[in-house]
Amino acid sequence: MAFTLDLDSSLLQPVQIGDTLAPNRIFLAPLTRSRAQADATPSDLAAQYYAQRAAAGLIISEATAVSRAANGAYVNTPGLYTDGHQRKWAEIAAAVHDAAGRMFVQLWHVGRMGHPDIGGVETVGPSAIAAKITAHTPSGPKPLPVPRPLRTDEIAGIVADFRAAARRAVDAGMDGVEIHSANGYLLHEFLSDVTNRRDDVYGGSPANRARLTAEVVEAVADEIGAGRVGLRISPGGTAADMREIDEVSAYEALLHRIAPLRIAYLHVRIDPTSTTFGALRALWPEPLVLNADGVDFCQLESFADWGAIAAAAVGRRFLANPDLIERLVLGAELNEPDKATFYAPGPVGYIDYPTLADLDEPQSA
Ligand SMILES: Cc1cc2nc3c(=O)[nH]c(=O)nc-3n(C[C@H](O)[C@H](O)[C@H](O)COP(=O)(O)O)c2cc1C
Repeated sequence: MAFTLDLDSSLLQPVQIGDTLAPNRIFLAPLTRSRAQADATPSDLAAQYYAQRAAAGLIISEATAVSRAANGAYVNTPGLYTDGHQRKWAEIAAAVHDAAGRMFVQLWHVGRMGHPDIGGVETVGPSAIAAKITAHTPSGPKPLPVPRPLRTDEIAGIVADFRAAARRAVDAGMDGVEIHSANGYLLHEFLSDVTNRRDDVYGGSPANRARLTAEVVEAVADEIGAGRVGLRISPGGTAADMREIDEVSAYEALLHRIAPLRIAYLHVRIDPTSTTFGALRALWPEPLVLNADGVDFCQLESFADWGAIAAAAVGRRFLANPDLIERLVLGAELNEPDKATFYAPGPVGYIDYPTLADLDEPQSA
């Protein structure tokens, strides 16, 4: 059923997100689309895809690897660690800015979710605990291997990779970066006691498990300025076989440590009715972006009305409706997302979802 947003809706009001002024509070959630080139350069179609969604208060890009070793959970996912990658991201930033939009690049290391047949690199993680998940490799589905636990002396290099990729993002003209510490990838794996059984300074206590994400946030904020840094977390999330049980303590430690930095926003993928959300909300003084799977716009509007959230990130409905904001204002029906083309190569299901204007155009014979 269509939902109409009044023009004076809280979701349509501007909000300052660090250094970026978002003209509305409906953001594009990060969405892996598996259209990048074999060398991790974004697709030639990516600029068009993102520019189509420039009416979002903020575009958050698909997850983007900080190094070759950080990639390889899914085929054809982009990176930002070569000059060629940076040039393509610069084209994307220019296209989004020309369409009057704003964009952050989401940066990740896939950790134990990587498969050597996809990324051509060894699978690593905090501890030797495999995700019981099937990877979609070029030669068919395969179980994920047991990751090699990272040595303590390797971790500074990973922090440095995040710093360098953030520098490239800003040099490419992006408005900022979002650090991906959610959904069962490397930084999340360090936070969670399900996947982190280390006995060095990166494991054990909540503060130790939070250390890697905190160090990445601190390094990236130092490199590009805190006002251009967002952080995504998914406490209690079950994505990627996390089965997280002790979901609060490491997140509390993390937020205590990074709150003084005053980064642009914290992006939380969570059930907003959970006690965890309430606990973490109370700890976070800066803008909070909520992503709640499939939650309707009426509820998101209520959260914004109460001041519980600065903005809502919307994934699948934005994927299928490049003109989502306009449709909400007009109360128009939404296109349904087509799961079959979420990760399929090529333009279909990527840049060809019709806008209302497309539907109004007379069909050629
Ligand atoms: C096709 C697809 C790709 C996704 N890729 C990413 C990603 O790259 N990074 C990330 O943090 N979350 C990713 N997610 C999770 C979404 O950002 C979001 O949390 C999820 O879709 C729930 O929000 P929604 O109900 O608004 O779609 C992805 C989800 C989908 C459906």
